[in-house]
Amino acid sequence: TDVVVETDVLVVGSGPAGASAALFLSTLGISNIMITKYRWTANTPRAHITNQRTMEIFRDLGIEDQVLADATPHELVGDTVFCTTIAGEEIGRILTWETHPAREADARLASPSLTVDIPQTYLEPVLVKNATQRGTQSRFSTEYLSHTQDDDGVSTRVLDRVTGTEYTIRSKYLIGGDGARSQVAADLGLPMEGAMDIAGSMNITFNADLTHLVGHRPSVLYWVLQPGSDVGGIGAGLVRMVRPWNEWLIVWGYDIAGEPPQLDDDAAAEIVRQLVGVDDLEVEITGYSLWGNNQMYATHLQAGRVFCAGDAVHRHPPSNGLGSNTSVQDSYNLAWKIAAVLNGQAAPSLLDTYSTERAPIAEQIVLRANKSGGEFRFMEVLGVLDAETPEAMQAAIDERKANTPAGAAKRAALVEAMDLKHYEFNAHGVDMGQFYESAAVVPDGSPQPVDERDPELYYKQSTVPGARFPHVWVADVAGHKRSTHDLVPYGQFTLVTGIAGEAWADAAAKVAEEVGVPLGAVVIGPGREVIDTYYDWARIRGVEESGAILVRPDTHVAWRAQTLADDPARALGDALRSVLGRS
Ligand code: FDA
Repeated sequence: TDVVVETDVLVVGSGPAGASAALFLSTLGISNIMITKYRWTANTPRAHITNQRTMEIFRDLGIEDQVLADATPHELVGDTVFCTTIAGEEIGRILTWETHPAREADARLASPSLTVDIPQTYLEPVLVKNATQRGTQSRFSTEYLSHTQDDDGVSTRVLDRVTGTEYTIRSKYLIGGDGARSQVAADLGLPMEGAMDIAGSMNITFNADLTHLVGHRPSVLYWVLQPGSDVGGIGAGLVRMVRPWNEWLIVWGYDIAGEPPQLDDDAAAEIVRQLVGVDDLEVEITGYSLWGNNQMYATHLQAGRVFCAGDAVHRHPPSNGLGSNTSVQDSYNLAWKIAAVLNGQAAPSLLDTYSTERAPIAEQIVLRANKSGGEFRFMEVLGVLDAETPEAMQAAIDERKANTPAGAAKRAALVEAMDLKHYEFNAHGVDMGQFYESAAVVPDGSPQPVDERDPELYYKQSTVPGARFPHVWVADVAGHKRSTHDLVPYGQFTLVTGIAGEAWADAAAKVAEEVGVPLGAVVIGPGREVIDTYYDWARIRGVEESGAILVRPDTHVAWRAQTLADDPARALGDALRSVLGRS
């Protein structure tokens, strides 16, 4: 007879999407099993840039300190170099991931957390550990085979790869966080746009102490412009720091239409020495693999009781560092909705808002990442694309030093080529500006707030319904600084108001009781539990002091009222019921 194991949610995958979904569900007290095909988490560094939005999600989940402990800190991630080799000539640098003083000011004004670098080999164990500690049943060496769903749940066939036995896991919901080759997405027949394997890349991981070459310009990324660096790949050759400054990963392109390159340790070491620019560099090759660049996204992310998150629904090159971040953010959006439905607090229709809210993000980030890969203009601007010999290439590069009209033109064009890279490396608006329009948001007629300078580069905080709830520093009664994000935890809805709006807080207690939903209330003002010490909350809140802002568990604004309503409990209750699909 068949063995059937039961749980509320089955999560397939222990990558950023799956492991974070498990962590979020367990944090919310939802029983879940996470299965993953291999015996452990990612075995190569893979995604690494962990942006502010993701770090503040980790802060919300109480694991930011653990992530920081394993991460390369913000101050070491940003003096990004473009060069002919690491040891050779520098074409220029760009301060990335908001390490330019002006951009760092933007970042610090927008969030309590900063962008850091943590490879998947370090991040996934933190997620899995905390998920498992909080209740997730983690099953490694367990492969998803197929599923069927009916009105009451999902039956998933899995293979225990240790014993070779198959069994069934019966759950109310299934989340496919099974990556770019997602079987769950394929079985669901999710509609996809775009193409896979549009360019070829190889990853080479190696150990070599490069402190003397990079310590004075610390960064995660060193871009190398050499003959061949415009072929395939992600725009240029890349030497990427894994751990400062002796563990590295090279990304080098190849023509995917031709024969795949044959790699062995010697060939890999040759590519390393060529990009580093040190002929006799002592290097230990630790791995190499080929991978295809994708430009594909799903236009719908779910069917019935099954949802896909992460690379299963958005597949793109690493440019902009969006892969792992968006995967975590998908799950952050999905998990509280599943919990609310399972706990009987929301109608099942709330679940439909997952796709409504996240599918546009999938499209946006896939297109953005692919565009960034095409925006390496340096080779073209330097005039090296036609150079057939290293000497001709060097002559073209040297021309930028000449006191001639051609030299001046190259120098001017380089400024423009460099500026374009801000769309890959300082796209603060892309990272932070996700905005939701769905049945889980009650609009008030205000448009999506965007920064007039450039909505991709700059992020504008606001409390417009659908926007990420803004961060400013406030203080507790003891005067300790707290982020406004610390007031709105994942486990509940939170109503934020001022002293003139205190009646809202009483209403919230009543509504929480009536609607049967965890709903906290925070009054910000002198003599209250939270004090607007810097008066920044008054400047950003976007409503009168007597108004109120209802924040969803995933820190997006659900609804707001400009002033105190005649019947606050009714106004708040109507809004909450509407968000939960119960009106
Ligand atoms: P992810 O692929 O991380 O995880 C999928 C999970 O599903 C794994 O745990 C796997 O075991 C499991 N799984 C798959 N099929 C299963 C099945 N049938 N049954 C059970 N479990 C199954 N990004 C970047 O920004 N910079 C980079 O340098 C790289 N490099 C890179 C290298 C390689 C080799 C890969 C594969 C990917 C990258 N990426 C990357 C992309 C980045 O890794 C990616 O965006 C995120 O990991 C996506 O997270 P997910 O959790 O969605 O999928």
